[in-house]
Amino acid sequence: MSSQFHPDNTESINPSSNETIRDVIAEFNGRRNFMKGSIGTAVLASMGGFSLEALAAGYVPSPSPTNGGIGFTGVPANVAPMTDGITVPAGYTAKVFIAWGDAIGKTGPHANTHWDPSTAMTAERQLTTWGAHNDGMHFFPFPAAGAGGIANDRGLLVSNHEYVDPGLVCNTLTYATDVITKPMVDAQLAAHGVSVIEARKIGGEFKVQRPSAFARRVTGATPCKLSGPAAGHAMVKTAADPTGTNVLGTLNNCAHGYTPWGTYLTCEENFNGYFGTTAAKLAAQPLTAHERRYGMSQAGFGYRWHEADARFDFRDNPNEANRHGWIVEIDPWNPNSVPVKRTALGRFKHESAIAAVGSDNSVAFYMGDDEANDYVYKFVCANKLNTKNRAANRDMLDHGTLYVAKFNADGTGQWLPLVFGQNGLTPANGFNNQGDVLIMCRQAGDVVGATKMDRPEWVAVHPTTREVYFTLTNNSGRSTTDAANPRPQNVYGHIIRFNENGGDVRATGFQWEIFVECGDKLSANPQRQGNIIGDDLGSPDGLWFDSDGRLWIQTDQAGDATGNYANIGGNAMFCADPATRQITRFLTSPIRCEVTGVVTTPDNKTMFVNIQHPGEGWSGSFTSRSTWPDSGFNGPTTQSANGVAKPRSATVVITKDDGGVIGT
Ligand code: FEO
Ligand code: CA
Ligand code: CA
Repeated sequence: MSSQFHPDNTESINPSSNETIRDVIAEFNGRRNFMKGSIGTAVLASMGGFSLEALAAGYVPSPSPTNGGIGFTGVPANVAPMTDGITVPAGYTAKVFIAWGDAIGKTGPHANTHWDPSTAMTAERQLTTWGAHNDGMHFFPFPAAGAGGIANDRGLLVSNHEYVDPGLVCNTLTYATDVITKPMVDAQLAAHGVSVIEARKIGGEFKVQRPSAFARRVTGATPCKLSGPAAGHAMVKTAADPTGTNVLGTLNNCAHGYTPWGTYLTCEENFNGYFGTTAAKLAAQPLTAHERRYGMSQAGFGYRWHEADARFDFRDNPNEANRHGWIVEIDPWNPNSVPVKRTALGRFKHESAIAAVGSDNSVAFYMGDDEANDYVYKFVCANKLNTKNRAANRDMLDHGTLYVAKFNADGTGQWLPLVFGQNGLTPANGFNNQGDVLIMCRQAGDVVGATKMDRPEWVAVHPTTREVYFTLTNNSGRSTTDAANPRPQNVYGHIIRFNENGGDVRATGFQWEIFVECGDKLSANPQRQGNIIGDDLGSPDGLWFDSDGRLWIQTDQAGDATGNYANIGGNAMFCADPATRQITRFLTSPIRCEVTGVVTTPDNKTMFVNIQHPGEGWSGSFTSRSTWPDSGFNGPTTQSANGVAKPRSATVVITKDDGGVIGT
């Protein structure tokens, strides 16, 4: 089981009668009319010869990447008794790069001062150090020195910090019964959000540049703006912000995205878990249908913040939760920029937001709502990408059309617009304006007839074909009586892929197929054996294409090698070939962690991978399950040596010993 603070979200809170993706799979099973490779136009080439990263820095592109193939020898599954460390293939080296509480290099007195994890974290310390539970991550390269192009030896590494384990933050084994104070809440708020660090190759090895003018923390208390159609809406106004435009902080920053104009997107997922109220207040004013649809409950996930900070009491401040659950845009190149919550992209439990740029510079973002039986979305910008003037793209995410996906049984699909006045999004169904549609986005998807999915997690877009891949991590908590359904209890999840009609990112129709059904070939239950060619995996979550077209898959199961995972082993990262569907295990991870967040330098020769919540589910002592990264396989972190006090989320840097491309 995962911890209460890191829920599996297997319980559906979708009351609509829309069909599920399993219903569709049942009908679709055996038919393969999916149209592959119909696009054939290189995304980067179509963008007029510059890369996304180059635009960010205003520079000209590096040459097209070579395709080095996939050539490593896979590593064995980390089965019981598990190794409490990282394993990568022969010829590769993995080192801890930065861990929770390590200095990020902010200029000033704390530039190089790491947290001592044997103590409680404070808000002050956390504002100068790497946040908790790192998740989605991107590398923004600097311009290359001298010759133009983009650098492979210097960049901004920007990472999400999804959630906290309050006991680890507050250094207590009894958080559930402790008196909760405002400083305890403030430290946890500060551990969330985003970190920006400058990563630089020094002496042939990447290091954190300390100090750096770019180093920054965005947290659960950082002033942010609300923009787009729902800004200023009555449902986002609070006593502290009667304008409904100024929000404090971003929370549950799960996966991420980045824009073609060089900004970072952090995606707010399980925001509902931070809010709570008293039993008496809830009895006096029961949950509304809107609150139920977004999973609000009296105790939330047990953070108890509402006991010390009324902002998180959803009966004292009923609209505060409506100010969370958005895509937040951050300009990493300007440490003073104000993060902007872009309401046009809808409010739900956002997992990631990945862009595709069309041959005419149209831009679409693909997004998932990670809840059992919730939906897949696409946002199409109204304006085209301006390749000459970065500033002209600044508010691209405020104007456009949001769609939700309907997967048909014949392998086609439709994007259903979530536009006020269309498809039943009318006053008769509770929608009086576009702000209503966006704030109550899930209900809008219910009304238009979107397809219920098995927990959409990350999205990846192929770098040359624009083929879109989605992980559907699992839906194990849901049974079905449909005997024809091939996955009646989808404990291992699957990956779906689709192409837009005509290769047009603005299309309102697409063709889809299942890329792989995950599973355990040795399972006694044929429905759980999956159809993987290569190494078995389950609960796919992180998903990313490198620029050569290798598909990297990361897993998030309970994190140990028991039960359904006795053969598959602990969480891992795999490399898949989209053409052959061959899947090979590249990395195994410490005990009871999740592998999430992966990116490389532009030359694909240095890879950063996030390891989240090692040792989850500890009891009696913080280190009862894992002591990574401060001891174990890799030895002390390269950034701090404060002793083995707690397991800590950390970023790992991976290189090939011969200096080659990762995965070859
Ligand atoms: Fe935060 Fe759905 O993973
Ligand atoms: Ca995830
Ligand atoms: Ca997950």
